[in-house]
Amino acid sequence: MARLAIPLPGNGAFAAKLARQPGFESGVLTVRRFPDGERHVRLGSEVTGRHVDIVCTLNEADEHFLPLAFAADALRDLGAISVNLVAPYLGYMRQDARFRVGEAVTSRTFARLLSQVVDSLLTVDPHLHRISSLAEIYSIPARAVSAAPEIAAWIRREAPDALVIGPDAESEQWARQIAEPSGVPYVVMQKVRSGDRDVHVDVPDLTPYRGRRPVLVDDIASSGRTLAAAAHAIAKQGMGRPDCVVVHAIFAGDALDHVRPVVSRLISTDSIEHPTNAISLAPLIGRALTDG
Ligand code: R5P
Repeated sequence: MARLAIPLPGNGAFAAKLARQPGFESGVLTVRRFPDGERHVRLGSEVTGRHVDIVCTLNEADEHFLPLAFAADALRDLGAISVNLVAPYLGYMRQDARFRVGEAVTSRTFARLLSQVVDSLLTVDPHLHRISSLAEIYSIPARAVSAAPEIAAWIRREAPDALVIGPDAESEQWARQIAEPSGVPYVVMQKVRSGDRDVHVDVPDLTPYRGRRPVLVDDIASSGRTLAAAAHAIAKQGMGRPDCVVVHAIFAGDALDHVRPVVSRLISTDSIEHPTNAISLAPLIGRALTDG
């Protein structure tokens, strides 16, 4: 029987694309607030004996966590065989250590909570830095797939003359996985972050790549300061304004005001719904769930 893709609010577009993949059907869930602000959650699909994928990207995890917990519990009560979470973006992965005295290590706490809510989870390019794998902090089967092949396909189609540029050492893995199958070179910058919105990058000498189209790639754009600083540094070397491709388009607050003026094309995957979305992850996720 087909898997049932059920969206939480705000995830309808992605769930609809997933439901169009082979082996899926779409399900319905409504969430509204009572006058006192508490949530009312109601399933509108028959789930008995079904494998269910709750689609809920977790960029605003505080907002989504309780409805997700209510929905997952209701699904089990109503007879679903399994409740898998499809979270194309998995939040709370960046505070993975106590950098300053007294800080909460929210990655671990959030993982512990989520592990009690769903049976398994599937995400895309989680921000693994000091934590080496999801299994280190999640006690349920937690899988990650990479958007790199989808981005590489975009590069081959839209920027075959690219020089792929990662803005910091952490982005080296994406830069390499994207550049190599596209048959284009890549370089990685050095980044120093001195505050949430204070970023400095050093670019290697780009003279050998003159004539190529600079394409910045990164996993997350949040404040946008990393992309903005990197784009400035690239332009200073006479390479022009770069294209930017990000997996997770958070673009919080005034981020776009800083990024748009200094880049050429700005595109993202649809892990978070955003006007820059140009690469769909639904086929990748669909295959990951149905191929085992
Ligand atoms: C850093 O470790 C990540 O790979 C991104 O570069 C970072 O999260 C981007 O953040 P922001 O847009 O706030 O500079």
